[in-house]
Amino acid sequence: MNIKTVKLIYFSPTRTSKKIVEGIAHGMNIKNIEHIDLTLPCKDTEKIKFSNDDFVIFGMPVYRGRIPALAAARLEKFKGGETLAAIVVVYGNRAYEDALLELKNIAVESGFKPVAAGAFIGEHSFSKKELPIAGGRPDKKDIAETEAFGKSILDKIQKNKNIDAIKQIDVPGNFPYKQGVAPSKAAASTDNEVCTMCETCATVCPTEAITYEDEVITDNDKCILCCACLRICPTEARELIVPPILEKIKWLSENCKEPKKAELFI
Ligand SMILES: Cc1cc2nc3c(=O)[nH]c(=O)nc-3n(C[C@H](O)[C@H](O)[C@H](O)COP(=O)(O)O)c2cc1C
Repeated sequence: MNIKTVKLIYFSPTRTSKKIVEGIAHGMNIKNIEHIDLTLPCKDTEKIKFSNDDFVIFGMPVYRGRIPALAAARLEKFKGGETLAAIVVVYGNRAYEDALLELKNIAVESGFKPVAAGAFIGEHSFSKKELPIAGGRPDKKDIAETEAFGKSILDKIQKNKNIDAIKQIDVPGNFPYKQGVAPSKAAASTDNEVCTMCETCATVCPTEAITYEDEVITDNDKCILCCACLRICPTEARELIVPPILEKIKWLSENCKEPKKAELFI
């Protein structure tokens, strides 16, 4: 098998999933790497073509033990052409539950053949300086692991002459999947004392929940709490100060301290 292009398909508001799939691609040592970033609203993705010379790496964060619903909807538009793929979820050191199985099933239904899978750790989107949750991950060791994983994927593919001979993988998870929680109507907000109205936050919002009038307005119905706006804000004016979420952050910081390791399926 000869792979000419690695296509990275990811949804990654706080960029940890992006770092993980880039590490895996780096380890595969294939020159042509294409990014298909589904984080922002995207058009015409159904027009992207895939062939047997491509290898696709899907990278998704875990939200409440599942793939974010918005990301799943954006993913379902792709049509693989018997294209080999790796499926990767990135979670904030609590648990990934049904997310890897859900991502595998979406990939298979869309015409891809998953031959490798992994669950990696990324700093939790809710992590704060004073209440860290998997702070700084993926770190150097995690990235080295992604690269080694990329190398072993390439070895697996190259050992076989045709696609059908390559063994597909099983991954943990339950179907029916964990029940999605009803939207909380909670949203990130802006401290107007600190905000400079630079409008950077709106440029990274996956749901276009942020607009501007005399001040920054966030649509609670659209916000998915991904925290992309908090990470990008140059003056740290964006904040998550909804009481139940603050409780959750405290709980996660206290109960998810023990660093988890990546789980690889190949
Ligand atoms: C709404 C929401 C729900 C999340 N649910 C989980 C979860 O169930 N388990 C977990 O370990 N991490 C959870 N996380 C943390 C993310 O999976 C983690 O931070 C991931 O690295 C984010 O990926 P990104 O940097 O590509 O956006 C959640 C984050 C958000 C925003």
